[in-house]
Amino acid sequence: MVNLAHIYRVSYRSGMRSMALLFALQCLLVFPAFAQAESAKKHVFPEGFIWGSATAAYQVEGGIVNDWTLQGVDAGAAVDLWNTYPSDFDALQKMGHTMYRMSLSWARIEPQKGQFDLQALAHYKKMLQALKARGIQPMMTLFHFTAPQWFAEQGGWTKAENVADFNRFVEKVSDTFADDVYYWNTINEPLVYAFRSYDEGAWPPFKKDRELALTVAKNLILAHGKAYRTVHKNDSLASVGFAKHVSILEPNWPLNPADQLMTSLQDYLFNFVFWEALKNGEMHLRIPGFKPIDIPFDPELQNTVDFIGVNYYSRYKVQATGKVLTPPDAPRTELNWAIAPQGIKTALQMANHYAKVFKAPIIITENGLADHDDNVRPGFLVQHLKALHEAIEMGIPVIGYLHWSTLDNFEWTDGYGPKFGLMTADRRWRPSAYLYQEIIQGNALPAEWVKKYPLVGEKMPLVTE
Ligand code: FCB
Repeated sequence: MVNLAHIYRVSYRSGMRSMALLFALQCLLVFPAFAQAESAKKHVFPEGFIWGSATAAYQVEGGIVNDWTLQGVDAGAAVDLWNTYPSDFDALQKMGHTMYRMSLSWARIEPQKGQFDLQALAHYKKMLQALKARGIQPMMTLFHFTAPQWFAEQGGWTKAENVADFNRFVEKVSDTFADDVYYWNTINEPLVYAFRSYDEGAWPPFKKDRELALTVAKNLILAHGKAYRTVHKNDSLASVGFAKHVSILEPNWPLNPADQLMTSLQDYLFNFVFWEALKNGEMHLRIPGFKPIDIPFDPELQNTVDFIGVNYYSRYKVQATGKVLTPPDAPRTELNWAIAPQGIKTALQMANHYAKVFKAPIIITENGLADHDDNVRPGFLVQHLKALHEAIEMGIPVIGYLHWSTLDNFEWTDGYGPKFGLMTADRRWRPSAYLYQEIIQGNALPAEWVKKYPLVGEKMPLVTE
């Protein structure tokens, strides 16, 4: 350390008062600037920051028969990760992953109601051991959009009494894998699932019934609360949360009160309802035109969040009619999703409110894009990490980032078209995978990359339908 006072004193004593003053002043100005320039070369992440990527069983494993296959949405052999996991995990180790987010296929594990497939459980055990051997910790999702056929046939999540079936599965797997898993993710994107499957009719079971979608959302909240307690019963040290999809919603015309009102309603319903219910241990939804939805206060439901999972992809404009639009001005991905890196910071600010409530850290459990040629992904990755780093600098307790996805996979009803992978299905690393490797190795984003990899979007015609 330069001791400015000492330099000043020495120079002063030697009779060079003005020189000394000048020198001290210079030091004051130059050294901090120097130090700043040094640290500006890198956006350094906190020590021990978790780096990884995410998948879901049905999208990657292959050979699963579940409620989606029942409805004709068959992933078939997927990308065969069920068999190729040792070499895939080698690749993740090489890329520097410290976490891999995966899910258990409930349909594989409990193909008949109440009958567990011990071989399937043993296979997952081997996968978890393979991760451990490579120094990669798992994050395990318990429900990632798919269920056994028998569960769907008895009404799935539309019936409150079926929550007990899910809980039996959770009991079994949290007991079996208590020593192998620390981070448990009960439910992936509950509101996305409820609305796409029961309101929009886009996903199995293809229902268009908003009332039913709200019932499903309610039952998923109940399922989360029960799963939280069950996992903790089997593993008191576990960290249990769920992955919340946060979308940035803005009124289509910012000054139009009707657009504003609809945006607030959708924002509350889509972004906040789940967190609020777990904060309060109860829920009382009153939506004009719909039956009231109530969860009476239950202390067992309250505070059931140990870490906050945030899946962030995009931002949208909301019209008074309830229609949600892709902002026309934004660069877009191959799936026409707006690319909005600053949105990850906004999403983290929203999550931070609950981080305080639950005294829980935040993990980005998904963030990524469909980009076959990897033209857009480098800028996407760099700019999102830059914004995430800004959030950390603001004091938001983000402890990890998981990219969606590890490799190209079955993108639900969009099939194998969209390419979300750091790796292709034939396990080639896209250029972004090498960038990610470098970021992970340095636990930092080189500052010059922010200029080198600007945000670019596909020049796609805007789909407004
Ligand atoms: C998320 C899902 C994930 C994948 C990505 C693209 O909503 O959780 O399975 O489909 O979108």
